Amino acid sequence: MDGAGRHCLAGRGQIIAWSAKLSVTKFGGLNVRDANGRARRNHPHLGSLTSSARFKRHSNIDMNKSPANPTTRREFLKNTGRLAAGTALAGVAIPQVYAAENNLTQIVLIGCGGRGTGAAMNALSVQQVPLKLVAMADVFQNRLDASYDRLKGSAIGTKVDVPAERKFIGFDAYQKAMDCLKPGDIAIFTTPLAFRWVYFAYAIQKGLHVFMEKPLTADAPTSRRMLKLAAEASAKNLKVGVGLMSRHNRGMQELAQRIHDGEIGDLILLRGYRMHGPGGSAYSTKWPGSPSELLWQIQRFHSFIWASGGCFNDFYIHHVDHCCWMKNAWPVKAQALGGRHYRLSPDGSPFVDQNFDVYSVEYTFADGGKFIMDGRCIAGAHEIYSSYAQGSKGNAVISNAGDCGLPSSTYKGQNPDRASLLWESKVPPGERDPYLNEWRDLIDAIRNDQPYNEVERGVYASMVSSMGRRAAHTGQEITLEQFLNSETEYAPGVDKWTMDSPAPLLADANGRYPVPQPGIKRESEF
Ligand SMILES: NC(=O)c1ccc[n+]([C@@H]2O[C@H](COP(=O)([O-])OP(=O)(O)OC[C@H]3O[C@@H](n4cnc5c(N)ncnc54)[C@H](O)[C@@H]3O)[C@@H](O)[C@H]2O)c1
Repeated sequence: MDGAGRHCLAGRGQIIAWSAKLSVTKFGGLNVRDANGRARRNHPHLGSLTSSARFKRHSNIDMNKSPANPTTRREFLKNTGRLAAGTALAGVAIPQVYAAENNLTQIVLIGCGGRGTGAAMNALSVQQVPLKLVAMADVFQNRLDASYDRLKGSAIGTKVDVPAERKFIGFDAYQKAMDCLKPGDIAIFTTPLAFRWVYFAYAIQKGLHVFMEKPLTADAPTSRRMLKLAAEASAKNLKVGVGLMSRHNRGMQELAQRIHDGEIGDLILLRGYRMHGPGGSAYSTKWPGSPSELLWQIQRFHSFIWASGGCFNDFYIHHVDHCCWMKNAWPVKAQALGGRHYRLSPDGSPFVDQNFDVYSVEYTFADGGKFIMDGRCIAGAHEIYSSYAQGSKGNAVISNAGDCGLPSSTYKGQNPDRASLLWESKVPPGERDPYLNEWRDLIDAIRNDQPYNEVERGVYASMVSSMGRRAAHTGQEITLEQFLNSETEYAPGVDKWTMDSPAPLLADANGRYPVPQPGIKRESEF
């Protein structure tokens, strides 16, 4: 059976209800937001072109703009106070909703893999407020144990207080971990993306601040759900960080300001490159039979669109996000190339994942400007891992190396040579780690009760990534509006999964999963 046949299709009424609530323009289409979360009216594909001037210079960037009016602190305390009763740490005094200087803020980690362990370490390294890790959740005992041992044995080990009774395993472990918290504490979501909306809804219900890793979504229905949840979180004055750490790279922050102030003129072309050998779990040979197919797909989440958006979303979203930030707009459409060149592992067994080996996506902005995102996972080919902007007066190196590597720089003309250098970022040593900065910024916002919600722009970065991936996989030009209105959900019912649930994507008799066939499968990705 074709994988697409098993996707859950939301009813038409649901889409209309959603779009009526969120952002329908008078033309019946969707408002598109710029890269800082500002609403732009009149979707350009509906006949009323947005003035290019709107995109030119936004010198006063509010990077953490919250889309909704926060409720008062008093209302928030009233609402969230009810939830406080009956938390697992019942001995802890009834909370301040916001962490103040000397209040202990508790953290739970949901998804105890590589990034989760790193995020917990970053969080516990922050000095502004006393923080303690009090619970951990995973679907694999060995992952949780390894993460615990690493954290406990590290420099922040004294801030790890997770006894056996607060180590939770299973698909409901996230609830048990968050039940250990009081309103105003922080939950970290670092599982593969399919679970984000489920956890976020529960955290909002419990009045928790959140840090969640990128990407946030792989399809439109969950994107719409996350946008709604983002507004709910802001309405409850919850602070939410998203792991698109470029936004917290101090060099890139200054670069964005300079570009938006016109230092290199009008932006015409952006280029993102992530081209290197195979990474993560992007290539998979057949399911070995254990653990269950579902758990195995979770372990190899880069191989499956439902779990990660595939390698395109997971690997390239940082460049997608920060290039659009420099442009201060999200693209309105995409067309793309991509293909599978080498589909046998070194031992001769076939790779059965859903990824292309190469992608080249051409995004178009409303003012006609372009953004090319090139990705390749092939060893032995030319490697480039950086990003660039070209404007009418000059050019910029955005990420010098990697996802967001310092320094950023600007140049006269189109060659990035030293003789043409206009500016190069100089960031003090203590602020060079964007993974730490994103935690300092989140904790500052909690402590000072500043609006802070990065979800909406995280969803847009995820949707723009998915639009590009889908354009490559189908061989069709796709608009952001078409993507937004799409009804295909890749992991339906994820909120009800148990350890015995079947995988949302099943292999055929030969152990192969459905793969994209551009031009043949035009409506669905596989
Ligand atoms: N911002 C960055 O630079 C960056 C870097 C790496 C990873 N990430 C993101 O972090 C996320 C995790 O990546 P990773 O490399 O740490 O992967 P990982 O496989 O090492 O860790 C994921 C963990 O989540 C657990 N898990 C999966 N489903 C779960 C569920 N339903 N409930 C509880 N636990 C569950 C897994 O068992 C695993 O331990 C991904 O979304 C990835 O894109 C971001």
